[in-house]
Amino acid sequence: MSYQTTKEHELLREKVREFAEREIKPIAFSLDVKSEFPTQVVKNMGKLGIMGLPYEKKYGGAGTDVLSYAIAVEELSRVDGGVGVILSAHTSLGTYPIAAFGSEEQKKKYLPGLCSGELIGAFGLTEPNAGSDAGGTETTAEDMGDYYLLNGNKIFITNGGEADVYVIFALTTPNIGTRGISALILEKGMEGFSFGDHYDKLGIRSSATCELIFNNVKVPKANLLGKEGQGFKIAMATLDGGRIGIAAQALGIAQGAFEEAVEYSKEREQFGKPIAAQQAIAFKIADMATKLRCARMLVYSAAELKEAHAPYGMESAMAKQYASDVALEITSDALQIFGGNGYLKGMPVERMYRDARITPIYEGTNEIQRVVIAAHILGKISR
Ligand code: CAA
Repeated sequence: MSYQTTKEHELLREKVREFAEREIKPIAFSLDVKSEFPTQVVKNMGKLGIMGLPYEKKYGGAGTDVLSYAIAVEELSRVDGGVGVILSAHTSLGTYPIAAFGSEEQKKKYLPGLCSGELIGAFGLTEPNAGSDAGGTETTAEDMGDYYLLNGNKIFITNGGEADVYVIFALTTPNIGTRGISALILEKGMEGFSFGDHYDKLGIRSSATCELIFNNVKVPKANLLGKEGQGFKIAMATLDGGRIGIAAQALGIAQGAFEEAVEYSKEREQFGKPIAAQQAIAFKIADMATKLRCARMLVYSAAELKEAHAPYGMESAMAKQYASDVALEITSDALQIFGGNGYLKGMPVERMYRDARITPIYEGTNEIQRVVIAAHILGKISR
C-alpha cells in the first residue's frame, strides 16, 4: 500500500479544516468547560456533507473512500477531539454495521437519515461486566414471537442520548458464548429505552457519553441486524473499522497540539532567543514530527487496506495502538513546551492533553489491540 493522498483528499481536508477553524475553534473551550454537545455544529457537519462520507450515494452517502473519512475525523480532532469522536462513532460504529450487514429494507430506512446527519448513530457493546471481554455480554433479548424483549444496560456509550439510532448487542441464546449474541437496531423513543446521566469526563467533553438502559423494550424482529447469533462477529468487524476512526482522532489531537507547540516555541523567548532555538526544544519538536508521520502512515495505510477490501484488522489495531500511544507523548511534550502556561485552563494544549488520554482506552484498550495484533501473528498460541 502506498499511502498517497489525492487532490480530492486534500480538498476535503481543506474544507473540513476551514469548517473546524470557523465553527468549532471559537467555542471549543466553552464546550469543554460546560461539557456541552455541539448540536448545531453536528447539524452543520451534515450540511457540509461529512456525516456519511464512505457510504454509497444511492443511500445518501458521499461515496468517498475510507481515507477521506479518516481525514475528516483527523481534521475535526485537530481542533476538538470531542467533535472528532462524534463523527467517528456516528460513521464507523453507528452507521457501518447497518451499511455492511443490514437488509435492503434496513439500509433504505436508516442510511439516508444517518448519511445526511438528520439522524445520529451510536453503538452499544460495553457493559459493566463486558468491557475488554466484550463476549461477556449480559443484556438479554428474549424471543417473543414477532419481537425481542430487551433487558439490560450498556455503559460508556459515545453519542448516547444524542443519537437517534443505536446498534446494540444482546444475548438471544444464553450459555453458548459469543455465538449467542445478536445485533439489534434500536431507535430513541422506543418504550422502555432510556438513558442514564451523562458522565463527567476528563476529556472529549464536547462529546456525549452515557448509559443506555433497556427495561422490557419490545424490539421488532425486523430490527435484527444480520442473523441471530451473528452479533459478536458484527461487533468485531465493526470495531476493526472503528479503530481507524479512533486512530485518526488520536492523530488529529496530536497534530493540533504539535502545531500549537511549534508556534509557541517560535514566539516565546528565553535566554535572549526563541525557545525553538534551544536544541532541547528543537529536538523535542523533531521527535514529535517523526512520531506524527509514522502514525499518519499507519492510519492512512489501514484506511487504504479497508478500502481495497484487503485484510486490515491487524493494521487497524496497529494504527489505533500506535497513534493513541504517541498522541499521549506528543500532547504531553506540547504541554511541556508551553511550560506553566500550558497548564492553564483555556489553553488548547491543556484540553488536548486531556482529550488524548481516552484514545488508548476506548474502542479496545491498547492492551487489547496488542492481543489482536499478536493473535494475527501467532494465532491461538498467543491466547
Ligand atoms: N471479525 C470477525 N469475526 C471475528 C473477529 C473479527 N475481527 N474477531 C473475532 N471474531 C470471531 C472469531 O472468529 C470467533 O468466531 P467463531 O465463534 O466462529 O470461532 C468469535 O468471533 C469469537 O472470537 P474470539 O474467541 O477471538 O473472542 P474473544 O471473546 O476471545 O474476544 C477480543 C476477542 C478481541 C478480546 C474482543 O473481546 C475485543 O475486541 N474486546 C475489546 C472490546 C472493544 O473494543 N470494545 C470497544 C467498545 S466500543 C467503544 O469503545 C467506542 C467508543 O467509545 C468510541
